Amino acid sequence: MALKLGSWWRLVKLSRSLRFSSAPCLTFHTTASSMMGVTMEQFEQAKNKLSHLKKEPGNDVKLKIYALFKQATQGPCDTPKPSMLDFVNKAKWDSWKSLGSTTPEEARQQYCDLIGSLLAAEGGDSTPASPADSSYETLLVSREDNVTTITLNRPLKKNAITNQMYNEIIAALEEAAKDESAITVFTGAGDFYCSGNDLTNFTKIPEDGIQEMAKRGGELLRKYVKAYIDFPKPLVAVVNGPAVGISVTVLGLFDLVYATDRATFHTPFSQLGQTAEGCSSYTFPKIMGPAKANEMLLFNKKLTAAQACDLGLVTEVFPDSSFQAEVWSRLKGYGKLPPNCLLFSKRLIRSTETERLHAVNDAEVERLVERWTSDECFNAIMSFFQNKSKL
Ligand code: COA
Repeated sequence: MALKLGSWWRLVKLSRSLRFSSAPCLTFHTTASSMMGVTMEQFEQAKNKLSHLKKEPGNDVKLKIYALFKQATQGPCDTPKPSMLDFVNKAKWDSWKSLGSTTPEEARQQYCDLIGSLLAAEGGDSTPASPADSSYETLLVSREDNVTTITLNRPLKKNAITNQMYNEIIAALEEAAKDESAITVFTGAGDFYCSGNDLTNFTKIPEDGIQEMAKRGGELLRKYVKAYIDFPKPLVAVVNGPAVGISVTVLGLFDLVYATDRATFHTPFSQLGQTAEGCSSYTFPKIMGPAKANEMLLFNKKLTAAQACDLGLVTEVFPDSSFQAEVWSRLKGYGKLPPNCLLFSKRLIRSTETERLHAVNDAEVERLVERWTSDECFNAIMSFFQNKSKL
């Protein structure tokens, strides 16, 4: 069972012997949460703190957290029971069902207490000192040591990028371009870096029809990729786990890519009836040569971190156990470099390519708008949601 549940938690490895009922309750900028019930804000904070756990909990703990989250956000379990052979979903379902008529308020409380106890057992929360910018719902944005960090923060959905999240990332990049920091860093909360475009973006068909939806999607994508092309400061990806789709393709527009040895890089466009984006149709052949780029962009080849590094997509790979410590100490050092020097050097490097990149972005978007209305794409998305087919 650890196989699927485990992936959600690879980052959050915790001791198996914890007992929640007796564990201390960590309050999130509040006091006596048990007495008064937690607010939605405290619940959100607990959800965000989940990604700060360093050790992996046992499966029973993972299931408990999953169940409490579902109960808190959706109420008692009323979905059909998965088949006996669908072990993972059956275990998740059983755990959720076992909460019976626990109210969402009680579930929120228990969820916060549980996350608090796990953090406390690790010796306290090690969140960076600077407060996260709370104006974003899908991101955590913090500034410390002249480094702005944008954390994709939908760990339960493997940081899949919703339309809201695309807009928030564009806004966060605009903000980071103007702030005092010398460099900007992207990373993901939880065990995944990002699972790519949230496929539910395709399932909410508006009244004005699929063509219009595709056009709007295209404009959003164009703006999103443009934000990376035009970003003036050094942009660093801290790839903390598997990366899929657009989170991989835009890496060609980053200035440094650091990866844990647990990361993988996958652009399964053909499998999804789609085509390349994020300027990867230009940057990937340039970075790794057409022969290797074709394997990824046409034939869905998933790269390990070591392979991606050999091909030049990744700057350096670190063992997972020391990844965070090594990378952040390096980034802290980069934050001390003279910011204008970094800005000007990046401009010199990027400026010879900027026009070309915008043209590539336009062409990729145009093709994707057509793809999104194709049967090939429609069938692939339906298959994901109906059969829960995984990559
Ligand atoms: N879009 C929408 N939902 C996604 C998603 C995506 N890209 N990636 C993950 N999720 C959701 C899952 O549906 C699941 O939701 P649920 O808990 O409500 O059932 C949750 O995130 C956790 O994912 P799960 O599939 O249980 O985790 P896993 O470790 O077994 O598998 C993936 C992870 C990424 C391999 C698998 O979710 C997947 O194949 N996702 C689709 C990725 C994709 O096609 N991206 C687009 C690329 S262009």
